[in-house]
Amino acid sequence: MSTPIERIATLTIGTVESVSPDEIKVLLDTDAPQATALNTGTPRGFPRINSYMLIPNEMGAVVGLVVWVGVERSTFPKRKGSYDFDLIDLPFPLRKMTLTPVGTLSPSSAGHGDQVGYEQKRGIFAFPSVGDPVVLPTVAQVTAIIESHGKDSRVPIGTCPLADGATVSVDPDKLFGRHVAVLGNTGSGKSCTVAGLIRWSLYEAIETRKTKKLDDKPNARFIVLDPNGEYANAFSDMKARVFRVEPSSGDYKALKVPVWIWNSFEWSAFSQASAKTQRPLLQRALREVKVGVQLETESKIRVKRLFSTYLISLRNDLNAGAPAFVEKPGRSEFGRKLKTMANDAERLSTKVEGNLVTSLNQLAQTLSSIADARFRTFENDVGETVTYYISFEAGDVERAIIAVEELLDSISEIELKIGPDEDAPIRFKGEDLANHVEQLAIKVGVIQFIESLVLRIRMMLSDVRLSSVVGTEEPIEFDSWLADYVGASKAENGALAIVDLSLIPADVLHVIIAVISRVVFESTQRYRRLNSCELPTVLVLEEAHTFIQRGVLQEEDLPTPAQMCRRTFERIAREGRKFGLGLVLSSQRPSELSPTVLAQCNTFFLHRITNDRDQELVARLVPDNLRGLLRELPSLPTRQGILLGWASKQPVLVEVRELPKEQRPESADPAFWDVWTGKIDREINWKEIVSDWTNQPPEESGNSEEEPQDQDPF
Ligand SMILES: Nc1ncnc2c1ncn2[C@@H]1O[C@H](COP(=O)(O)OP(=O)(O)OP(=O)(O)O)[C@@H](O)[C@H]1O
Ligand SMILES: [Mg+2]
Repeated sequence: MSTPIERIATLTIGTVESVSPDEIKVLLDTDAPQATALNTGTPRGFPRINSYMLIPNEMGAVVGLVVWVGVERSTFPKRKGSYDFDLIDLPFPLRKMTLTPVGTLSPSSAGHGDQVGYEQKRGIFAFPSVGDPVVLPTVAQVTAIIESHGKDSRVPIGTCPLADGATVSVDPDKLFGRHVAVLGNTGSGKSCTVAGLIRWSLYEAIETRKTKKLDDKPNARFIVLDPNGEYANAFSDMKARVFRVEPSSGDYKALKVPVWIWNSFEWSAFSQASAKTQRPLLQRALREVKVGVQLETESKIRVKRLFSTYLISLRNDLNAGAPAFVEKPGRSEFGRKLKTMANDAERLSTKVEGNLVTSLNQLAQTLSSIADARFRTFENDVGETVTYYISFEAGDVERAIIAVEELLDSISEIELKIGPDEDAPIRFKGEDLANHVEQLAIKVGVIQFIESLVLRIRMMLSDVRLSSVVGTEEPIEFDSWLADYVGASKAENGALAIVDLSLIPADVLHVIIAVISRVVFESTQRYRRLNSCELPTVLVLEEAHTFIQRGVLQEEDLPTPAQMCRRTFERIAREGRKFGLGLVLSSQRPSELSPTVLAQCNTFFLHRITNDRDQELVARLVPDNLRGLLRELPSLPTRQGILLGWASKQPVLVEVRELPKEQRPESADPAFWDVWTGKIDREINWKEIVSDWTNQPPEESGNSEEEPQDQDPF
C-alpha cells in the first residue's frame, strides 16, 4: 500500500522554480493538463486561478493558492530525460504558475476506514525548495482544505467551485462576533448573501435546538436596517417583525422612533444647532422637559432627602442624651432646630401635591408645638422682649422623631436617585420641547438666534409622514419599544426585526438610523452591565456607504446628521464586540466607507468589484501575499464571492447557496424588455399613487372606472 505522500506524487504537474515567503513560482510539466485534470478523482479545471496546489514535504504538504498562470518563452524546451543540445531550439513556450502559500495540509486520524483523513493548519512549517514537485490535490484533500475551518463551522453558506463543490461553512461566533462587510457592485448578490447568512444561521440554530428537544425559536436577535425596503418579504416564513412607515397591512407594524428616544447629540445634529447658543439651550430644554415630566417626583425626592437627614440628626441627639437638647443660656440650639424643620416642612408643602401637602403641614404643626411648649419670653431691664427656649426632655425628642418617621413612611415608595440627564430616554411631548426652547430663549434673551432651531423642530413634528414615526401621541413604553426593535426575552417574539426605512424623508433618515443603532448598542451595553454577560445581537446595515461615509470631523465642528450617523457606527464597530453586538455591513462603494469601520470588520465577503478605487481599497484589506487572489474580483459572476478574514482559515472562493425567489430581497434587475414587449403587465394608477403621496383619499370623480389600457405600445 502506498503512503499518502506517495499517492500525492502521482499527481505531479510541475516543479518549484523559485521560492520566497509570499510567492512560489512553478514551472509546469509539458504533459500537465491543459484545461481539465482528469486524474484527481473528478474532472477539475486546471490550471485555474484561485485553485489549490500542494507541494509535499516532510510535514505533509504546503498548500498554495494559484494567483497567476501564464506562458513564458524560453530558448530551450523543457524536456524530460537527457538534453539534446545538438538541435537548434526555437523559443519555446513554457507554462508557469505563481502560488501564494496559505497553509499546511497534513494527514490526520479523521479518515474513514482505510482512507486517510487530512487536516489543514494555518501557517507554513517548512517552505518548499527549488525543484520540489508540485501536485494536484485529490478530492479528499481539496475538501479538507476548504472544509477544515474548525469544528464550529456550523453554517453552510455555499460551495467552492474550484474544489469540486466542497461545502464552505462558517462559524457564526466568528462571523458575527467581529463584524462582517459584504462588498460588491450593484447586482452582484450582496443582499442575497446577507439574507442567506441570516437565514442559514437561524436555520442551523433551529436544527440544533431540535436535536436537543427544544422549541424552534432560536434565542437570536437580528436587526436589519433596510433603507430600500427589500427585506420585508424575504423572511415572511420566519416570523420577522417588520416595521415600516404607514404599514398598509396587518402583517407590518408602524415604525416608531419617538423624539424622546433621541439623545442630545442626535438632536443637535438633526436641528443643526450651533455650538455657541443653540446647543446649550437645546440641551437645557431637553433636560427640563424630561425633568418636567417628573416635577412631582422631584419635589418628593427633595422632601425625602431633607427629612432623612433631619431624622438622623434627631436620633443622634436622642442617643447623645441630655447635653444635646438641654439649652444653655443664650444659645437655644435645639429649639431653633425644631423651628427650622417646621419652617422647611411648611415651605415644601407648597411645592408638592396630594397627600404629601397634608403630611408636611401636620409635621410642621407637631414640630412647632413641641418647640412652642418650651418657648419663653421676658422683658429685660431696657424694655426689650427677650425670647429663649428652656431645656427639652427626651420625650420631646422622641415625639419629633416619630413625627418625622411618619412623614417619611408616607413617601417610602420614592427611591433617592439622581435626576435624569438630557440623554435619558424619558417620555415627553415633541410640542413641549419646541415651546420650552422658545420660552427659554425669551427668558435668556436670545430668541433671534433660536428661531431656525424651533422652526426645524416644529416642521418635523408637523410633517404628516414623519410625525407618524417621530411623533409622541401614542404613549409607548420604552421597554416595549426595546422588546419590539431589539427583541424580547428568549426571542419569544421572533429572532428578526426588519426596519423598512424606504419612506423616511432623506433629511431625517440618518438621524433615525443613528438613533435605532445607538439604542440597540446602548441596550446591549446596559444588559451586560446588569447581567455581567453579553447579549448576542446582530445589527445589519444595507447601503452602508450612505450612512457610514468616510470623512473627518473635528470635535468642535457642527456635525451634520451624516457625520453623526458615522460616529455612532464607528463606536459600535469599535466597542460592539465587547457587548455581543456584531455588525453586518453591505456596501457597493467600499472606498466611500469610513476607514475606521472597515478596519474593525474582521470578515469580508467580496462579490464582483469592477471599480478601480474600490478594488484598491479591498486590496489593502488583505495581506500582501493574498492580493493576487483579488485579481479575480472584476470577473466574478453573480452569487460568487471571496470569503476572507476571521471566519475563514484561508481566503476561499464561494458560490453562495441559491435562495429560492420568495426568500430573496426584492431587488431583481428591472425587466425592461419583458415589460416593453408585453410579456409582463404593468398598469399605472397615478391617482392611487398621488393619494398615497399626498396622504389624501382619492378624489371622487364621476368617471372613476379605469380606461382600458392600450395594448399597442406604438
Ligand atoms: N444566493 C443567491 N441565490 C439566488 N439568487 C441570487 C443569489 N445571489 C444573487 N442572486 C441574484 O442576483 C440578483 C441581484 O442580487 P442582490 O440583490 O443580492 O444584489 P446586490 O449586490 O444587493 O445589489 P444592490 O447593490 O443593487 O443592492 C438577485 O435578484 C438574484 O436574482
Ligand atoms: Mg442589495
